[in-house]
Amino acid sequence: MKSERASEEALIREKLIASANNETLEYVKEKAEEVKRLMTYFRCAMMEIETKFKVLNEEFSLKYDRNPICSIKTRIKSMPSITEKLERKDLPFDIESIENYINDVAGIRIVCSFTEDVYRLADALLKQDDIMLIRKKDYIENPKKNGYRSLHLIVAVPIYLAHEKRLMKVEIQLRTLAMDFWASLEHQLRYKKDFEFSEKMQEELFHCAEQSAALDMRMDNLRKSIMND
Ligand code: GTP
Ligand code: MG
Repeated sequence: MKSERASEEALIREKLIASANNETLEYVKEKAEEVKRLMTYFRCAMMEIETKFKVLNEEFSLKYDRNPICSIKTRIKSMPSITEKLERKDLPFDIESIENYINDVAGIRIVCSFTEDVYRLADALLKQDDIMLIRKKDYIENPKKNGYRSLHLIVAVPIYLAHEKRLMKVEIQLRTLAMDFWASLEHQLRYKKDFEFSEKMQEELFHCAEQSAALDMRMDNLRKSIMND
């Protein structure tokens, strides 16, 4: 963990030196501190959102005697991924670019039991008066061409520091267990080195996605007939 942090910091410095032209070492050091601080703010925002979902889960469990959330995963985008994305978007490596143009520095994935839970949790979060919705992509209502399903939200949430309040962006992905099963395996297969899906494989993956969506629907129907939530 410590050595991971150290190499991230070395990369921040290297990127800053490369983009700073004739700036002094002091300047680079100062900017590196600012990037580090920004990453901490993103981590705080992610914690805020995680807590909000945990609270909703507690309340729901109390009311209906079951958990709508199966698991929560959080991650901060690594420095190599951030720099790669900035380069891809032809943006300079600085605080402003990271803050304004990278929406998924802080990411949280909520895996739910039923499709209904995905929408209930998203609605409950978006109703909170300190949450600002920036973008919503409903890949459940409109799945991607390859079959991918999830509800994606980009929100801004305030974090309260000793002397200021800052609005930070967080990417939230909500999906069911079945959607997560498909997305996790598809991701593993897609990132196999030096390999491209043939058309037939893409079709097969698409069918798997359709089948898991059908399962989700059947399970949701069972829920409706068994539970009164
Ligand atoms: P980036 O992909 O982050 O550059 O931005 P975007 O604005 O196009 O994001 P989008 O909301 O479409 O997807 C963001 C994230 O959703 C990705 O980083 C993945 O975690 C997940 N995702 C999107 N499409 C797929 C997919 O086809 N398969 C899998 N496994 N995950 C996906
Ligand atoms: Mg992303």
